[in-house]
Amino acid sequence: MRIVIASDHAGFALKGELKELVRELGHEIEDVGTYSGEKSVDYPDWSAKATERIVSGKADRGILICGTGIGMSIAANKVKGIYAALCCNEFTARVSREHNGSNVLALGSRVIGAELARSITTAWLDSEPLEGRHLVRRQKIMSCEAETHSNSVMAEGGGRIVIIEHPLIQHKLSIVRDKNTSVKDFRDLIQEIAGLMVYEISRNLLLEEIDVETPVCATKAFSLSGKKLAVVPVLRAGLGMVEGILRLIPNAKVGHVGLYRDPDTLQPVDYYCKLPNDIGERDIFILDPMLATGGSASAAIHHVKKRGGRRISLVSLIAAPEGVEKVKADHPEIDIFSASLDSHLNDHGYIVPGLGDAGDRLFGTK
Ligand code: RB5
Repeated sequence: MRIVIASDHAGFALKGELKELVRELGHEIEDVGTYSGEKSVDYPDWSAKATERIVSGKADRGILICGTGIGMSIAANKVKGIYAALCCNEFTARVSREHNGSNVLALGSRVIGAELARSITTAWLDSEPLEGRHLVRRQKIMSCEAETHSNSVMAEGGGRIVIIEHPLIQHKLSIVRDKNTSVKDFRDLIQEIAGLMVYEISRNLLLEEIDVETPVCATKAFSLSGKKLAVVPVLRAGLGMVEGILRLIPNAKVGHVGLYRDPDTLQPVDYYCKLPNDIGERDIFILDPMLATGGSASAAIHHVKKRGGRRISLVSLIAAPEGVEKVKADHPEIDIFSASLDSHLNDHGYIVPGLGDAGDRLFGTK
């Protein structure tokens, strides 16, 4: 099994011991931090790193350790698809798997000793979920979870399909759908919507504490940490979303993928691809306002992957079910963000109701 492990400073020493144990038991282990017991850190940051590995399908289960195990379990259970159990003996560890299907084991390093932590971990790794009445109960938890996260569906392969229903986005989207909206307003609104979408998408970016001197006194403040971003518009309509995003994240690098859709075959034809050199180290947003057949988006994702891109999301204003299906089939691990999932494609490959041809409306070419 692929096990991801994380701790805060309080759980750091125990993490080292359990890593050894997990390896001895024949599993792969990935340590996503923290990497020192000296510096006081915030457990939700490390829970987020580990749970991301699980929901994206890169790890099968996770072990989270803080002083009490409580903070880690609360933080982990905020994530859809995570079922974290705080265990303090072998019995609860085994039953948390058999009855509750826990996929994260939370441990309190200040509550239990290393020996007990080892036997709890062994019991938890060895147990599997039971079916029958326990499955029925777990399904009830999942349906409650589905209601809470109604705008986000996890697809097979780990990628999410997230419809961003913020009222401002929906209001502006109605204006761009209107065929009487001018080119100038259309252009401005597409940028605004793209910015608002990325504002929502980026709400879980990691922060680090920094020292700042205000005109009044010295204080602690927060700065973005972790991976850097790249936006990659699919030419040409994707260009219409770039400025809106750069206004919020001015340090993001911009790559370009040039594709056009052959009007007869509706297949994407590529003619250009230029990406930042360090694309493999960046979180990447591929921008394509219309996810129609999914052919161009899927080809764009393919080109970015071929050049080393790894953490890729697709951001579209309007998606058709056909496009979502195509991208999910070709790239199941990708998150797709859209402001609307429309009805279907018509015979000409246009999204219905859609907004027409985004490129032509952005650039006034029709
Ligand atoms: C850190 O002192 C402590 O609060 C943390 O490790 C954990 O116990 C939180 O739940």
